[in-house]
Amino acid sequence: MTELIEPKHIAPLELTNEDRVFVLTGAGVSAESGLRTFRDSDGLWEQHRVEDVATPEAWARDPELVWRFYSLRREQAAKAEPNAAHHALAQLEQKLGERFYLCTQNVDDLHERAGNKRVHHMHGMLFLSRCEQGSSQNDGLRYHCPCGRDDPQADAKSYPDLASVPRCTDGGRLRPHICWFGEVPFGMNQIIGELSRCTVFITIGSSGSVYPAAGFVRHARGLPHNPKRIYIGPEPPDNAHEFNQILQGPATETLPRLVG
Ligand code: OAD
Repeated sequence: MTELIEPKHIAPLELTNEDRVFVLTGAGVSAESGLRTFRDSDGLWEQHRVEDVATPEAWARDPELVWRFYSLRREQAAKAEPNAAHHALAQLEQKLGERFYLCTQNVDDLHERAGNKRVHHMHGMLFLSRCEQGSSQNDGLRYHCPCGRDDPQADAKSYPDLASVPRCTDGGRLRPHICWFGEVPFGMNQIIGELSRCTVFITIGSSGSVYPAAGFVRHARGLPHNPKRIYIGPEPPDNAHEFNQILQGPATETLPRLVG
């Protein structure tokens, strides 16, 4: 039975020294920083379905289009500022230390800019790129490239066109360090390990429609110690029935109340 709770009735989360909190964030946590969610834009960008610009096939077919899509997203993300929900999560990490795990589907850096230190970007990061010749190691958390440019590199530039994108020494193109549709998210083994030992599972601002992230709550629900499962967002997600509680409201209003 899922309980719907309005913001004014949210009580601060009571945690013991044994509790471990796993937080999964989606596009909704950055919505009030001005970054549009996928749902808000009907999954479209300039008449293209997002799936058509965020796949290995799209990159092979039309790399310029893919670069333009990510360049615009870099520009928007660079202008955005963390909001009260990001700050509440930074506060929670400060309080819980290694008993807190933040896994995000977002590719912006607003969690880091709010002060979170250990953020797992399961879908990659806008401001990293890597050589497309590189091969994945350690569950996608490391890369080895024959050209010697091993791990994804920090890249503050927005690369307005493909021609300005630097190449590796062996001529390989750089690609955004993003998990595209059809690719495996980064560090899944680590995520499942952390998920399996959490006692409180919180999802913030995710429609519950994109797997594997949408299945994390079901994994938590199936654990013998039955972690508490909370969803935060203005509307129930597609997987609402898997949660014990839905704190129904915008993240900037609900999360600071929950964190206390
Ligand atoms: P969606 O756009 O599918 O869902 C955003 C969710 O945020 C919706 O359920 C909204 O109700 C909620 N929301 C909107 N405003 C909010 C607010 N102020 N506070 C809290 N919640 C709010 O985004 P995701 O579920 O994150 O994948 O999408 C998952 C993945 O699908 C993305 O990571 C991306 C996408 O295609 C890749 O790029 C691989």
